[in-house]
Amino acid sequence: MPAETTMPLEVPGSAVVPAEAVTPLIRGVGVVRELTEAGGTLSLSGLERATGLARSTVDRITSTLARMGYVRLDGRDAVLTPRLMELGNAYLAALRLPALLSGRADALADELDESVSLAVADRDGIRFIHQATRRRAMSLSFRIGDLLPAERTAPGPLFASEWTPADWQTWHERRASDPEDRGFPAVPPRGRPGGGSGFGGTGGFAGARGSSAGRGPSTARDASAGRGLPAAQSPSAAPGSSTAPDSPEAQAHSAAQDSSGAPSRELPHPDAEFEQLARDAGRDGWALDDQLIEPGLVAVSVPVREGRTGRIACVVSVVSHTSRHSATDLRDTLLPRLRATVAEMERVLASTPQPAPGAAPSGLASWTGASKHELGRDFVESLARGLTVLTAFGAGRSALTLTDVAQATGLARATARRALITYEHLGLVRQQPESRTFSLTPRVLSLGFPPLSRTSLPRIATPHLTDLSARVGESTALAILSTDRREIQYTARAVSHRIMGVDIRLGTRLPASATSLGWVLLSDTKDTEDTEGFEEVRAQGYALLDEDWEEGLRTLAVPLHDRTGRVVAAVNVALHAAGRTARECVEQLLPELRLTATRIERELHAAGHFTRVSLL
Ligand code: PHB
Repeated sequence: MPAETTMPLEVPGSAVVPAEAVTPLIRGVGVVRELTEAGGTLSLSGLERATGLARSTVDRITSTLARMGYVRLDGRDAVLTPRLMELGNAYLAALRLPALLSGRADALADELDESVSLAVADRDGIRFIHQATRRRAMSLSFRIGDLLPAERTAPGPLFASEWTPADWQTWHERRASDPEDRGFPAVPPRGRPGGGSGFGGTGGFAGARGSSAGRGPSTARDASAGRGLPAAQSPSAAPGSSTAPDSPEAQAHSAAQDSSGAPSRELPHPDAEFEQLARDAGRDGWALDDQLIEPGLVAVSVPVREGRTGRIACVVSVVSHTSRHSATDLRDTLLPRLRATVAEMERVLASTPQPAPGAAPSGLASWTGASKHELGRDFVESLARGLTVLTAFGAGRSALTLTDVAQATGLARATARRALITYEHLGLVRQQPESRTFSLTPRVLSLGFPPLSRTSLPRIATPHLTDLSARVGESTALAILSTDRREIQYTARAVSHRIMGVDIRLGTRLPASATSLGWVLLSDTKDTEDTEGFEEVRAQGYALLDEDWEEGLRTLAVPLHDRTGRVVAAVNVALHAAGRTARECVEQLLPELRLTATRIERELHAAGHFTRVSLL
């Protein structure tokens, strides 16, 4: 057997493409990234412009992604589908932190009634791996997978406290080449109103915390600069929160402000300040974000350390708004409770053994040959094979050798190796040369996760209902059960184009016992009364009913299960009884309805692995 190959470590994103990199995979990843940055939807010609690829290449890549279930082609648009989240899920499952810690983050959010997030370091940025969001009107909230520049966040200085000189060099280079943070689409660019620019336009970030002597962040002044208000009017002005006049950042600020107090010029040495913040954060074990991203948004953060190495595994933040807490106030009142949660999290990390490797997947890429055969030029097999490499990782499978990857995918070692070289070049995979293993990096979350991470069952289902309705020529709908289990509520639908087609408005409620949807939903639990009828529905997996609330209406419904197997919704086809006999419904419509339910479930399960999918 040939020895495992150790590859040269490529600098992610570097211009030099390794000779063995797989070009179609680089292009396919580029297409997914552009779609992600566009919020999940882009026209094919938009993709052509954004990627610089020829139209024929864009077409072949998108049809390959469509075959994988990662993209839906909707007229002229390519739309990311929740199935794509399986790539980010592979990273999050391998990482373990969300599975181990998100419950405690959620509990803290409930206790404080504030948003709580978990973030990991992603080179010189921070990337969110969990969000327990309290939706409030006042400020933007970030999504799982969003990347923020370290120096505009509270977790940033904590991570930076562990940076090597090479890391600092990378950061300085990025600051010089992208002073407005254009490479971070999740944050407003600096230099715009609301763009975190209250601290000197394009430069500084004073106010992240106070000087180490005064410890009082320059909240009032910075916030008011951001909004053009005098300090005294700032809602975040707190007694004693102004910067000591002789502190370094006060001097920096006076240099950055003209006589009216408005920000005017770039701070003289803004980057030096972040270095100081990182030192303070490393020493104190906490850091503040006082409106670095946008006026009003404040956060306090504490690192969760790995028991064995003492290194930062992730950072927990409590995020609020100045209308409720000033940054200093957050530190004074909420930091103790945040620290208590972090202490618990560290105990969990230290005491949970590494999971035994889950059953190794096999043959992940074995389907690609048949698709190539079927679709020919419209299927880029090297892209499909390459993408399956990412799904070889997962819970208990965070560090894989080349042999492991080849086994899981069924790809030849040489093919798997070229995919890994490509991913390393793209910064999606990291090699641990000591152990000759590969791991996914947080950057895998940039493949679709942010725009897909806040979806709902109706949004997932609608395109599939439309497709089903077109295939069978009848109306279709999705419904959930009311909390008291007496009614069903329609939450998505697709209407057939027949003149006499069934047309039920969204939001309509009907008695559960009078509809096939209701029968399917009620039959999930054993404690429902009419056990006989429900048992039959449960056993056969569908309900067929001539519904008496509307003359001549016949409906056929099947259940939708979440990842745990619980029935959470039902889908139906509704038609005039004169159109098809009961037997024809079962023979002709049931297979189509089941296929649709399976497609919806696949997307629901991918989306629901690490995010909460709203049923409404
Ligand atoms: C967030 O979770 O939204 C968050 C966390 C830390 C920050 C800013 C935002 O500094």
